[in-house]
Amino acid sequence: MFSMPSSSEHGSQSPGREIVLPPLAANSSTWTNVAAAIRTIVEDPTLEMYFDEYPGEFDALSKQVDRTVDAAFEQHDERALADVHAILFALYDLHVAPAASMRTHNQFNPYLTRLRGSIERRWLGSAALGEIAPVELRTPQELVEAICSTSAQHRASKHPLFDFLETQATQTQLTEFFRSDSALNIRFFDLIVLALLGSDPAVRGELSQNFWDEAGKGDPVRSHVTLFRNLLLTTGIAPAEDDHASLLNWQGLAGYNLFMMTGLNRSQGFKSLGVMAVTELLDPSQYEKLTRGCRRLGLGGAGELDYYDEHVSIDVVHAEGWLSNVIVPLAGKFPHRMNDVYVGAQWRLNTCAQYYDDLHESLLRLA
Ligand SMILES: [Fe+2]
Ligand SMILES: [Fe+2]
Repeated sequence: MFSMPSSSEHGSQSPGREIVLPPLAANSSTWTNVAAAIRTIVEDPTLEMYFDEYPGEFDALSKQVDRTVDAAFEQHDERALADVHAILFALYDLHVAPAASMRTHNQFNPYLTRLRGSIERRWLGSAALGEIAPVELRTPQELVEAICSTSAQHRASKHPLFDFLETQATQTQLTEFFRSDSALNIRFFDLIVLALLGSDPAVRGELSQNFWDEAGKGDPVRSHVTLFRNLLLTTGIAPAEDDHASLLNWQGLAGYNLFMMTGLNRSQGFKSLGVMAVTELLDPSQYEKLTRGCRRLGLGGAGELDYYDEHVSIDVVHAEGWLSNVIVPLAGKFPHRMNDVYVGAQWRLNTCAQYYDDLHESLLRLA
């Protein structure tokens, strides 16, 4: 059954169909409706046929998305930004959804693919991914040095959020941090799998090592997803079907979507290398502060901090591996794409800093 915004005339055009009509077209100024409508229609296996039959419905949806995208990327409207990133989140999820879910029928729905492409083009063409420092890169080593020094100097790498978590946060604030961290941490396995798809054979060893570590070296109890879920259980956070993504503000969704956008689009493959490398560079020192803050509050006695403890040490190895065994060989082979890797690294730093800023403010408001 398809649910689509419409006026009553559309109901009369499709006799025999059960159509529930959320007020999308009728309330075009209500931003939240467009994201909610898309989250609903992606579950409908007949969606493509429906749009084939009623192209006016797709046009109405498309215009509504365009208006939301305009408000998000031209006027920096926060509600519109939240909706645009919620839409992208839902569209990216089609590619990593459980095979038993209804939304898998829309994985390659051409209408949804067109919507996603138009949102991505506007996102990439906007200033939303932040300032990109220009630099001339002549050798793979210069690229590695640029990534490391830009990362070390960026506010995302020594963010006050982690000093706060280490020394001041309450149990409630820490719990909210874990909840907020869920969607990305739980999806990280799939992100490494995306990095493996179509990868250069020369770098598959390093990527596979990363993948194997994420999978707990074959022990399901030690897989990073299991370790993180244990922490959520211990701290009383009930499982959620979307891993709490719907609670994220636009900054959190944008950070997540950056991984998915660069991981799913083969054209963004070099940017993805920078995104992934920076993630490994950022985490160890900040997670060290986080785990000290957790222990200050009595957590950690029963292995519930294993997820973060493990990343404090293993991400140092991963960062070195991404730089030396993935980025250096690929930069040597494709020197004209070095700048793309560097841009990806800066995108991750910028979105990460925005996310940490917003999360820090949200946690302070909880006090
Ligand atoms: Fe991990
Ligand atoms: Fe890692």
